[in-house]
Amino acid sequence: MSKSDDSNLRPATKLVQGGRRPEWTGDPRLGGGVVNPPVWRASTILYDSVADLRARGHATHDKLYYGRRGTPTVWALADALTDLEPRAEGTLLYPSGVAAITAGLLALLAPGDHLLMVDSAYEPTRLFCDGMLKRYGVRTTYYDPLIGADIAALIEPATKLIFLESPGSLTFEVQDVPAITAIARERGVVTMLDNTWATPLLFPALAYGVDVTMMSLTKYVGGHSDAMMGSLTATPALWPRLRKATYQLGHSVSPDDCALMLRGLRTLDVRLARHAENGLAVARWLAERPEVGRVLHPALPGDSGHALWARDFAGTSGLFGFTLAGADDAARARFVDALARFGIGFSWGGYESLVVPSDPAGIRTATTWTDRDALVRLSIGLEDPADLIADLERGFAVLAA
Ligand SMILES: Cc1ncc(COP(=O)(O)O)c(C=O)c1O
Repeated sequence: MSKSDDSNLRPATKLVQGGRRPEWTGDPRLGGGVVNPPVWRASTILYDSVADLRARGHATHDKLYYGRRGTPTVWALADALTDLEPRAEGTLLYPSGVAAITAGLLALLAPGDHLLMVDSAYEPTRLFCDGMLKRYGVRTTYYDPLIGADIAALIEPATKLIFLESPGSLTFEVQDVPAITAIARERGVVTMLDNTWATPLLFPALAYGVDVTMMSLTKYVGGHSDAMMGSLTATPALWPRLRKATYQLGHSVSPDDCALMLRGLRTLDVRLARHAENGLAVARWLAERPEVGRVLHPALPGDSGHALWARDFAGTSGLFGFTLAGADDAARARFVDALARFGIGFSWGGYESLVVPSDPAGIRTATTWTDRDALVRLSIGLEDPADLIADLERGFAVLAA
């Protein structure tokens, strides 16, 4: 997919301008354009003639051919996401973040291949590796998220892909992405990163040597907890393979949902900044509380991932964890149930704060989660953090009672 000519613009400007090509926002016959690419719903595309039908069958992305290949609403979102990653050739969209991960792995791996998967990966990513990928003859070795350049020792002749997620799901370890991608490049191994926590605004993955970057748009890009989607953004070398596999798998996204995602994207910069500010206010308060064992937030100076985070990330988002000192599962449930300002729910990145109990011990195999204190994950929303802190204080009071 072609990119806009304005590649030197800063990210916040790109968020506003991305995907708003005049051919998608304006009809000259009407004498002007609209601000947002309209929602083009389509399955059937009509052709002028048989010759026209045949000619367009060979077109690739941004030509109307059949609904599954997308319409301008879909291309506008893909284009806007591509613009955020400086070395990217294009973006493919999927019905969920998990669908983006599985399509990427299927596109880039074949029977007999070996995959290096980070131990702190999102649980459904692991389930896919241990389930379907294994049945299709792909071997997975899990590696310590803190492995850095020592990943070299795990690369075998059959290793085709290293998958990263940084910070890690539930436990928020920060990976040395440039060290790993440098070795992968030397050894001819492809790298793919789940960049949902940071988005390209905080971590432009392709600039750090990643070949394919993935996001669950369901989270911060959508930002309003009402739509699901995933994306893969890739270098010129890998883009054709991903596109071909995606067409073969038959993935297609709704233009209505793309319009929601585009709406979210326009305000991503300001929302992320407020998520970060609110999240840090809550995290710093928690770090001082006697009820808290530790706070897992890479932007806090005491966090084990802080140095790498400070070196590589342009900021933080609002998702982090903390342990309740001495608390077991039942005590944690009493604490979580006592909260009134936090919804108990999966997903994250929406405008409203969420809380979930999390239990990493059972989904780590290359490392061991030894902390016996119950772990809680918070997604800090756009409320006033003073109200969130007052709510957490109430939760601690219930815990002590
Ligand atoms: C880090 C991470 N990656 C991927 C996903 C999957 O995204 P989706 O829920 O859109 O399938 C999630 C969802 O929670 C996630 O937390």
